[in-house]
Order: sequence, then C-alpha cells, then structure tokens
Amino acid sequence: MLGPLSFLVLSPILLGAATIFQPSANSAKCLTAVSNTDGAAVEIEDCVSGGSTSQNWTITGGTLQLFGTKCLDVTNGVTTNGNKMQIWTCATENTNQMWTVSGNTIQWTGHSSCLDLTNGVTTNGNVMQIWTCTGGINQQWISTTSTSTPSTLQQSLTANGISALFPGNSGYAAAAQAYNQRFTISPAAIAYPTTVQQVSEAVAAGTAQKMQVVARSGGVRLSGALVIDMSMMKAITVRSSNNTALIETGNRLGDIALALNNAGRAIPHGTCPYVGIGGHSGYGGFGFTSRAWGLTLDTIKSATVVLANGTIAAASSTVNTDLFWAIRGASPSFGIVTSIEVQTFAAPASATVFSYKWNMDITTASNAIAALQTFAATNISAQFGAELTFGPGSSSSHVSLELVGAWYGAANLFSSTIAPYLSTLPAPSTSTITPGSYINSVATLAYPQAVNTSTAVEKRDTFYTKSLMTPSDSPMSAAAIKAFVTYMATQGFSSDTDWFVQVELYGGSNSAINAVPLDSTAFAKRDTLFTIQFYASSEGDPALPPYPADGFSFLDGMVSSLVSNSPANWSYGAYLNYADDMLGANASALYYGSHYARLQSIKAAVDPLDTFRFPVGVST
Ligand SMILES: *[C@@H]1O[C@H](CO)[C@@H](O)[C@H](O)[C@H]1NC(C)=O
Ligand SMILES: *[C@@H]1O[C@H](CO)[C@@H](O)[C@H](O)[C@H]1NC(C)=O
Ligand SMILES: *[C@@H]1O[C@H](CO)[C@@H](O)[C@H](O)[C@H]1NC(C)=O
Ligand SMILES: *[C@@H]1O[C@H](CO)[C@@H](O)[C@H](O)[C@H]1NC(C)=O
Ligand SMILES: *[C@@H]1O[C@H](CO)[C@@H](O)[C@H](O)[C@H]1NC(C)=O
Ligand SMILES: *[C@@H]1O[C@H](CO)[C@@H](O)[C@H](O)[C@H]1NC(C)=O
Ligand SMILES: *[C@@H]1O[C@H](CO)[C@@H](O)[C@H](O)[C@H]1NC(C)=O
Repeated sequence: MLGPLSFLVLSPILLGAATIFQPSANSAKCLTAVSNTDGAAVEIEDCVSGGSTSQNWTITGGTLQLFGTKCLDVTNGVTTNGNKMQIWTCATENTNQMWTVSGNTIQWTGHSSCLDLTNGVTTNGNVMQIWTCTGGINQQWISTTSTSTPSTLQQSLTANGISALFPGNSGYAAAAQAYNQRFTISPAAIAYPTTVQQVSEAVAAGTAQKMQVVARSGGVRLSGALVIDMSMMKAITVRSSNNTALIETGNRLGDIALALNNAGRAIPHGTCPYVGIGGHSGYGGFGFTSRAWGLTLDTIKSATVVLANGTIAAASSTVNTDLFWAIRGASPSFGIVTSIEVQTFAAPASATVFSYKWNMDITTASNAIAALQTFAATNISAQFGAELTFGPGSSSSHVSLELVGAWYGAANLFSSTIAPYLSTLPAPSTSTITPGSYINSVATLAYPQAVNTSTAVEKRDTFYTKSLMTPSDSPMSAAAIKAFVTYMATQGFSSDTDWFVQVELYGGSNSAINAVPLDSTAFAKRDTLFTIQFYASSEGDPALPPYPADGFSFLDGMVSSLVSNSPANWSYGAYLNYADDMLGANASALYYGSHYARLQSIKAAVDPLDTFRFPVGVST
C-alpha cells in the first residue's frame, strides 16, 4: 500500500552536474520541459538565472535526464521530420530516449536525426522537434555544465545527519507539492528531522542563512524556503496518571483520535482526519465537541518549541509564559512546536451523528440561519455541536442545505434537544441519524476519508478559502442574511467553481469556547457565535489547477454580501485555519484582533530576524 511517506527514498545530498542547453540562435533561451509529467512538451524558454529544475539536464548513460526521473524522449519514437519532443519516465533500453551529444549537436542515437529548433523560432514556447541532421544553426546547441558544490545549508544538514531533499533530487518535486495546488512552490530544501534536536539544528541552519523557515505537519499549505517536514515525528503518549497526552506535531487528527480512543480518551478537533495537529492546534481547532471542551488549543498544558536560534524551549503556564500565550493562537510565527501536552477528556459514552438535507428557496434558507442564531441563545447543551453547510441549489434562487453535527449526550435525549430548531424548518428531504460510540462518530464525520491516515494517500486540492467569525454580541441582521443567501442562490448557482459554505456553531449558550477569558491565549476571537468558512475549488474530482480567475471575486463577493449589509463598526474576525492569502493589510486585525500588538512584541524578542515569516503571519 502506498503510504504518505513512500516518496521518502532519499538520494545522496550531493547534486550531480547539471547542464543547460541553449540554442545557438539565441543563447538567452534554454531547453525546458513545461512540467514534470510524462508527455510534457520540451520547448525553449528564457533561461532562469541560477538554474531551474525544468532546465537542469543531466547527461547520463546516453540519455538527457531532468527531474531525476524523466528523459528527453522522441514522441512515440516516430522518425518523421517535425515530430515533437517530450519528456517521459526514463526506462533503460528505451531507444526513443538515447542521445549523442557531440560538438554542438544533439543527435538521436542510431538515427540520422538531430534535436532541432523548430522553424528557427526563438520565442518562448516553441516546442522542439527532430529533423534530419543538417549541421545548420537550428541544430546547434551550446551546453554549459556546472558542478554544484553543496550549499552551506546542505553541509549543515548533512553534518547533523538530517535527511533532506533539494532541487534536483529524485522525489523533490513530489515532496515540494503543496496540498493546495493553487500554489506552486519550490523550497530551498525539505528537511525530515526525526528528533527535537534535529529540528533545532535544521532551524538554526536556516536562520544562519537568513532563510525563511516553515514547518509542515499535515500537508497544509506552506510557502517557500526551508521546509521542516514533521512527518517523521509521530509519537503519541497517553498518560492515564493525569489524563494528559504528549503528541508530536507530525501527527494528523485521525491518527490522534484513534490513539486516544484506545485509552478511552479524546480531545476536541475538526472532522478532517488528514489535517495536521501542528497548525490545527496552533491556530484554533474547532470540532463538534468544542462547545463542550473548547478549541484544540485550549487543551494545551505545555509545549516544546524550537525557536529561530535553535533553542529548544519549554512553554507552559509557569515557563516562558509569553511564548506559551503566543503559541496558542499564532504558533507558526513564533517557532516550530515539536510536541504538545494536552488535557484529554473521557470519550463520551455515546455519540449521535446527524445529517438533514434540504433544497431551499431564499426565504426559507434565510430563516434557517436566523433561527439557528435564535436557537443558540436558548439554553442549549454544550454537548450539542452543529453546522449548516450550503451549496448550489437544484435551480437558480435555491441553495442546498445540510444541517450536520453530533450530539454527545445520552442518545435518547437527542431528538428533544434538536426538536426546537427543526420545528422552525420544513421537513427535510433526507435525514440520517447515526447513534454509536464516540470513535464511530469520528469515522462517520470523516467519511469518505478513513480515520487512519496510513490507509490511503491524501488527495490534493485546488482551492481558495475565506472565513468570517460573527461576534456573539452582534448577530447577523436579517438584511445581511438575506443578501448572503441571495448571493449563494444566484451567483452561487451560476459559479464555475465547486463551492460550499459552512456556518459552524462556535458559541451560543454554554459554549466552552466563549467561556475562556479572551486574553488568556493569543486566540483573538472568543466572542464568536458562528465561524463561517467559504470555500471554492476548481471543478471536478480531484480538483485540478488552474483555479478559475473569477473564483476569487466570487468568494470575496460572498463575504462582502454579509459585511456590506452589517454595521460599519461590526467587529467580525477571520479564522487562520481557513487562511485567506488575499486579505492584505486587513489580515492582522481580522486574525489577531486586539492581540496583535502583544504578539508583535513577543515576536521581536524570540524571532528578531523574522525566520518564521509567511503571508498571514505576525510580523514585527
Ligand atoms: C541546477 O543545477 C545547478 C548545478 O548542479 C545547481 O547549482 C542549481 O541549484 C540547480 N537549480 C535547480 C533549481 O535545480
Ligand atoms: C502528567 O504526568 C506526566 C508524567 O508523569 C508529567 O511529566 C507531566 O508533567 C504531567 N502533566 C501535568 C500537566 O501535570
Ligand atoms: C440550562 O440547562 C441545564 C441543563 O442542561 C440546567 O441545569 C440549567 O438550570 C438551565 N439553565 C437555565 C438558565 O435554564
Ligand atoms: C493505522 O493503519 C496502519 C496500517 O494498517 C496500522 O499499522 C496502524 O496501527 C493503524 N493505526 C491505528 C492508530 O490504528
Ligand atoms: C457601533 O456603532 C453603534 C452606533 O452606530 C453603537 O451603538 C455601537 O455601540 C457600536 N458598536 C461597537 C462595538 O463599537
Ligand atoms: C480591507 O478592508 C476595507 C474596509 O472593509 C475594504 O474596503 C478593502 O477592500 C479590504 N482590503 C482587502 C485587501 O480585502
Ligand atoms: C535564543 O533566543 C532566545 C529567545 O530570544 C533567547 O532567550 C536565548 O538566549 C537565545 N539563545 C542563544 C544561544 O542566543
């Protein structure tokens, strides 16, 4: 079975010699593959200074290799003049991939054809061909070979025995891919530390080069530079003596739920099993148990944090208290949290997952949101967790709506708990009530994904997401709700994206999220009734790039339908686990609110060079 780590066949850190090929007709251009997939065209493009993985050829065994595994290939072996060039996975003895580089020509071995600048055109995007060797200028190539010496970063990582992938290493391209394929990223290196000590050495090596350092714990989005991939650090220790668990941050939510449940314990967290605990617990961590137990970050009793200078710091309510405050709400800007010690809860004796579905017109759907605001203000039990999920309706001016959630109280009290809300809505078209054990509820909510993330590789996505947290003391107005639902039912019906909106119930009566004093952690939006996630991807399954250009204004307009119909001083916020890279100057207020100034001053003390920098981070 292909596991998430199956690409981790690490090649030696020393790179081989790389060769660029420039047509004599224009030496500013380089022989380039358009992508790293089989069948990708080989054309000419502007040479990238310092080299590019798509222009760095290796001459080896009579082949011209790229990306470690792909070879310059005569498409289908067709010998006709004008047949175009591609790359294809290298295979020994594949005669379509054999080349003789001699003088200025690159001849197809065993044939009288040469690599030829198609029609002598020197503009970017001209796809190369084979043509009978003529010795003409279109077949003359200047090759420049540079032997790389290991960079200082490579030397440091090697000296500390830390596995790492660098551009040009086999496996690098796959490992560098972002979960959200809207982003193409080429890190300087991806390091795979196995111990806290190695994390410390890797971070110190990056900081010494004034590099940006980013941790990746669950394949969540990252940006650039030295990536510290935490996937080798997955220890979980459940301690029955004081009902805590020590969790390394290479773990994903599903695997944590299974390990804790084996000991009859649980923590609050979201429903997606592949989400990494590092970002989830560093920025919040909402799930249907959160009204009873708080956010994931509220369970953190202590943490081990690697600071920018490599110091391994403990953080708790008694040690490094500023740091402890900052990592609960903004951790990625402050260091790499390698493990957290969390307070666990007894897994509830039973859990009932519910799902009700409708196709609704605008008035009815507006009422569904307004009625949930009203219901939340009644004395609802903390053991009730729910959200409204909207999508395109069956016709224009309609939306689909699913009320989904879980009830962790006694199963026989479920229907009387939800009845007051259901009574405000029409009869659903379908309803599914699934009573069972706590871990059954985790699996039901995760479906179709498996809870155990070793059982299947995570599917990548191509999406844009935004969020809006509504203040408890200033509910959405009827006008705002109407405008929002109208937008979903009209623009949403005609959108060329696949989209959904989730209105998550954070607050309401008895919510443990709201009960935590605002200033006791860096998490800035405690006074929230609903956190709304807006999500759109390119169409299809899996959602592939490109993300449609109008998909940005589509979601921006959806948020605007709410905000522009609310008071000018409406104190709404946004949630970092649905990070929006397009907020610009508004990001810090929406994400960090009144805590931003204190976060900046702690940042200045622990990360003065801004090693841990990224678009939605805290900057000094
Ligand atoms: C291209 O190859 C050269 C020489 O090996 C190396 O220094 C450079 O980092 C490579 N660049 C990329 C992006 O692969
Ligand atoms: C829980 O117990 C472990 C092991 O005895 C100890 O190391 C840890 O500090 C305790 N945690 C708390 C929050 O008391
Ligand atoms: C709220 O409900 C709980 C039981 O869930 C009850 O103990 C409590 O008295 C109620 N509070 C009010 C103000 O009605
Ligand atoms: C997850 O599945 C793997 C592979 O089948 C297994 O080795 C592992 O024990 C499972 N993990 C849990 C927590 O059940
Ligand atoms: C917003 O403005 C209104 C008056 O327009 C005022 O009554 C209200 O207190 C203000 N709210 C906040 C949170 O400042
Ligand atoms: C920032 O907020 C202002 C006021 O709400 C808005 O006009 C502007 O478009 C926002 N900027 C971005 C980049 O979202
Ligand atoms: C590393 O940074 C921390 C936080 O600023 C500081 O307390 C510590 O002294 C630094 N360590 C070294 C070796 O400079």
